Amino acid sequence: MEYRSLGAGGVAGPDNPPTTVSVVGLGTWAFGGDAWGPADDRESEETIRAALDAGVTLIDTAPAYGDGRAEEVVGRAIAGRRHEVVIATKMGIQRRGPHHVVDLSPDAVRREIEDSLRRLNVDTIDLYQVHWPDKNTPIEETVEALARVHEAGRFRFLGVANFKPALMERVRAVFPLTCLQLHYSLLNRTPESHTLPYCAKHGLGALGYGSLAAGILTGKYRELPRFAPGDARDEFYRFFREPVWSAAGGLLETLRAIARERERPVSQVAINWSRRPPMADSSVAALARGGVTCALVGARTAAQARENAAAGEWKLSSEELSRIERAWREQIAPRA
Ligand SMILES: NC(=O)c1ccc[n+]([C@@H]2O[C@H](COP(=O)([O-])OP(=O)(O)OC[C@H]3O[C@@H](n4cnc5c(N)ncnc54)[C@H](OP(=O)(O)O)[C@@H]3O)[C@@H](O)[C@H]2O)c1
Repeated sequence: MEYRSLGAGGVAGPDNPPTTVSVVGLGTWAFGGDAWGPADDRESEETIRAALDAGVTLIDTAPAYGDGRAEEVVGRAIAGRRHEVVIATKMGIQRRGPHHVVDLSPDAVRREIEDSLRRLNVDTIDLYQVHWPDKNTPIEETVEALARVHEAGRFRFLGVANFKPALMERVRAVFPLTCLQLHYSLLNRTPESHTLPYCAKHGLGALGYGSLAAGILTGKYRELPRFAPGDARDEFYRFFREPVWSAAGGLLETLRAIARERERPVSQVAINWSRRPPMADSSVAALARGGVTCALVGARTAAQARENAAAGEWKLSSEELSRIERAWREQIAPRA
């Protein structure tokens, strides 16, 4: 497994050493059991332990995943192994009845972190992330409240998710920001224009989610799947529909060919594309061609977790990256 710095722009110091993370992290959205079909807690815990055994150190979760269930699963799975894990959780999306609401108020900050610490059964959270921007709360109020919670030792590094550069500027004016979590894969390259170059310029780590585009980029779907109403694979990612479905099929021919030549699964080709290293020169154009620091990949079983973690053992060559680039321009770009 390869390891990289979580991000240089944090609050590291003698009591808070900078943290490195595996280039493949484990996402736990599906463990909530409320957005990706049913989940089996015992299988979810085995999946987490299999990822740790395979060298994964970053586990990403959130109170929003199953209204706290995924955090509890993580807490049980890492019992006795706390020192091996960089725990990343979030605040700001809460279940209210049947709906999820965004609430970044200072009260929510103070309440949510105590709930997460209890569910995770830890004294401190390594990476605490603001889950989603909130139109109703000035971000400075949220970050001031987070700074007080940080002073009390409740978390080590601050992250944000789904923030644009202008909002990250406002966060950074109040408190050191370590990293951004963002949607990034071969089916969503929008962050390359502004967001990834902004992260690279300011030393922020970039944690990419949806690297497998909710499973499509594993190549396992030969026919368009049907999901139950409300399933995140259909409603959040929106790739299981035309014209993206057919375009992804065209791109997958190239990913499959590389996978065959390398004797590796297609999933690892997709993961390794998203976490490709930044270019050596630091012009904005070159930075935009680099990928994320860590690909956060969801897994439902121990076998999937092991397969995905093994992407951290090898890299795509520049010739393979060029072939993927050509296929992307032919298949995806015209329909993006
Ligand atoms: N901050 C945010 O707003 C946000 C948003 C989305 C996600 N995230 C985080 O990022 C993580 C990763 O993203 P994601 O889970 O949404 O999407 P993803 O990584 O693109 O897809 C994960 C899903 O693909 C399938 N899969 C994974 N590995 C596989 C393999 N080797 N072979 C076959 N199928 C495989 C599994 O589902 P099936 O077995 O059911 O097919 C798994 O749940 C999340 O779990 C969450 O922690 C954050």
